[in-house]
Amino acid sequence: MDLYEYQARDLFEKHGVPVLQGIVATTPEEAKAAAEKIGGVVVVKAQVKVGGRGKAGGVKVAKTADEAYEHASAILGMDIKGHTVHKVMIAQGADIAREFYFSVLLDRANRNYLAMCSVDGGMEIEQLAVERPDALARVAVDPTVGIDAAKAAEIVSTAGFDAETAPQVEAAIIKLWDVFTKEDATLVEVNPLVATGDGTILALDGKVSLDDNASEFRHPDHEALEDKAAENPLEAKAKANGLNYVKLDGQVGIIGNGAGLVMSTLDVVAYAGENHGNVKPANFLDIGGGASAEVMANGLDVILGDDQVKSVFVNVFGGITACDAVANGIVKALEILGDKATKPIVVRLDGNNVVEGREILASANNPLVTMVETMDGGADKAAELANA
Ligand SMILES: Nc1ncnc2c1ncn2[C@@H]1O[C@H](COP(=O)(O)OP(=O)(O)OP(=O)(O)O)[C@@H](O)[C@H]1O
Ligand SMILES: [Mg+2]
Repeated sequence: MDLYEYQARDLFEKHGVPVLQGIVATTPEEAKAAAEKIGGVVVVKAQVKVGGRGKAGGVKVAKTADEAYEHASAILGMDIKGHTVHKVMIAQGADIAREFYFSVLLDRANRNYLAMCSVDGGMEIEQLAVERPDALARVAVDPTVGIDAAKAAEIVSTAGFDAETAPQVEAAIIKLWDVFTKEDATLVEVNPLVATGDGTILALDGKVSLDDNASEFRHPDHEALEDKAAENPLEAKAKANGLNYVKLDGQVGIIGNGAGLVMSTLDVVAYAGENHGNVKPANFLDIGGGASAEVMANGLDVILGDDQVKSVFVNVFGGITACDAVANGIVKALEILGDKATKPIVVRLDGNNVVEGREILASANNPLVTMVETMDGGADKAAELANA
């Protein structure tokens, strides 16, 4: 889960990373009140989960509360790279002398963590990484050691900080490592990390991605950070039912067991769709092992609730959960759904107890269900029905 800047700011504060005041506002009136509360110069900042807000006009300095009102009016509702701004953060203004960059992230390729740091931070960091890669220090972080004082010193000296600034930046980096590990993040990025006129180090922007797998059981408090309003309603419904579902932009609903099989099913359906008006898979849905009738019903319910879906392809390979159990699941699911089930369903069963499974579906004789022998055949049939 990616966080908004204001949420990252709050986590920074919780772990002792130096930040300035920030208040979220959803209307210009609230923005003005926030600016009055903070006092002095403030910065009105669009809260969207995409980089480059400043360049897009989503970050504006306001010298007075009235100016904050004006900027908030302009920024709220703005579209930044396809993201509509629904909230702004009114941030206390900083007297910036220098802008630095720091990030730490999960480096999957090297099975490690990677810290990146530069004395030349700010809005041009992407350009810097391309044009002067040497100016961006990259330091591997051993997960069993983490960023301790020695590692922080290594990062800061590799980046080329002066002796006066280094100790404070090192202290901030150690705190940011706390955010990274204690919150189970996969990314913590601060751009800019600044030095003010009087030499104070502050994190003025924050990007944090949290590891959802850890959040569920290690951080119950992270649920409050989810942006329910921005969530796709079908995905939200699937999640509430504990289903592994991702909405896609096609017409053929997909249900399978096992992530690998479902991924392959998406591929064969996309391929088959080329012969049937270019229909495409409508979703990813892995019902996993032990697909009970209820899980199947919940899955079908979510998929049939997608207006874009014209047909459904159920592709199951019976393993521990044998095909007869899956077939019973489909029959019961259709009973549970009753009138809600209206779209044609193509079913391909194979594997453990396939004969029994097919018999169960055949004897139920539901007019919506078409049985097919092979995965390719099923993909073709489902694509054809979606295009009918
Ligand atoms: N509280 C603040 N006080 C003064 N200046 C600020 C403040 N916050 C941001 N700025 C200035 O605005 C610039 C852009 O802000 P910020 O980095 O938060 O947004 P951004 O454009 O989204 O960055 P990114 O591309 O890294 O996401 C900063 O580099 C900094 O110069
Ligand atoms: Mg930034």
